[in-house]
Amino acid sequence: MSNNIIVTIVHDNSEYDKSFVKLVKRYHDINLVSVESLSAEDFRRSLLIILQVNLTDPKTLRPLREKMLLPERTQVPVLFLLNEFSRREVVQANMLGATDYIAYPCPNAYFINIMGDLVSRTVEKTWSKLSHTQEMALKVSLKVLDDAFENAMNGEKLSHKELKNSCDLIIEATAKDGLTDWMNAIRQHHNYTYRHSMMVCGYLISFGMHFGVKKNDLQSLSLGGILHDISKAHTPLKILDKPAKLTADEWVIMRKHPVNSRIILAEGGWDQDLIDIAVHHHEKLDGTGYPDGLKGKQISDIARMTAIADVFSGLTDKRSYKPAMAPEKAMDIMLDMEGHLDIPLVKAFSSVIFSEEDKILVNQK
Ligand SMILES: [Fe+2]
Ligand SMILES: [Fe+2]
Repeated sequence: MSNNIIVTIVHDNSEYDKSFVKLVKRYHDINLVSVESLSAEDFRRSLLIILQVNLTDPKTLRPLREKMLLPERTQVPVLFLLNEFSRREVVQANMLGATDYIAYPCPNAYFINIMGDLVSRTVEKTWSKLSHTQEMALKVSLKVLDDAFENAMNGEKLSHKELKNSCDLIIEATAKDGLTDWMNAIRQHHNYTYRHSMMVCGYLISFGMHFGVKKNDLQSLSLGGILHDISKAHTPLKILDKPAKLTADEWVIMRKHPVNSRIILAEGGWDQDLIDIAVHHHEKLDGTGYPDGLKGKQISDIARMTAIADVFSGLTDKRSYKPAMAPEKAMDIMLDMEGHLDIPLVKAFSSVIFSEEDKILVNQK
């Protein structure tokens, strides 16, 4: 399954910057075109257009002016990378209708932030095409999750009222309209923490509905999805987004997040089910998981369910260090994870997901 996000990179010569293309590709599916071949279809299918062209060269400017007048151009943000950041380049970029422009090369983190903001803004605009309930659930949960991670980062309390209210909206949207559009809408967002937390939340709600759990328990599952990795607010981004294998020392930091979540949630007065989900979603049935090395029946059903939703979300999502995996392949792998995951529960999860995921694949075409 692809994240289905198309960032179109426009260049004006065959010597385009390959390392730049590689950097964008770590985050999004890309479409690489020359100024001459840039078409209305590229504007239609893209969530962001990035132009890495020479704005002082008339041979580039002439065709580019024509392309930027296409009516489809207004639907998508356009980011110009300026070689020199000269007055002349800035004037040209503005005249061509730049949404934003930056000097490039610049630090990767700065560029990724700008790109992420522009992609996310386009994605958030598309939410208005969903049902009102889904749109509200997405908008509210984005803000609430942002606040929750910021509060966690600053050592402040998370708002029970806001988080529970946002969970109720998500449950209502899933009950009314199913999981499909919800997952598609989330999958395109640039913010990984939001994507992952919401995906785990959506999977847990559907999982819970499949087993006919009561409304209160659905709320716990949904809160568990949103907050299961809350202490990653403290994990350095250079570890979370590292485009390579983690070192042994980095793993030590990464593996602390369930215990740190226990501290945040216990101090915040959250109930035991939620704490259980956050602390034990990396436990394995054979006792080789972390942080407590629990075995078999010592691991609760809700922690087992979260482990499944967490692994599935991780495998099927694109990250800066790996492409997204097809859901069928992810499920095959998970069915082989005996000793780690609860296989009868994985089978139940598969039946919940595949009725939905089939629709996701169809919708993405
Ligand atoms: Fe985790
Ligand atoms: Fe997770």
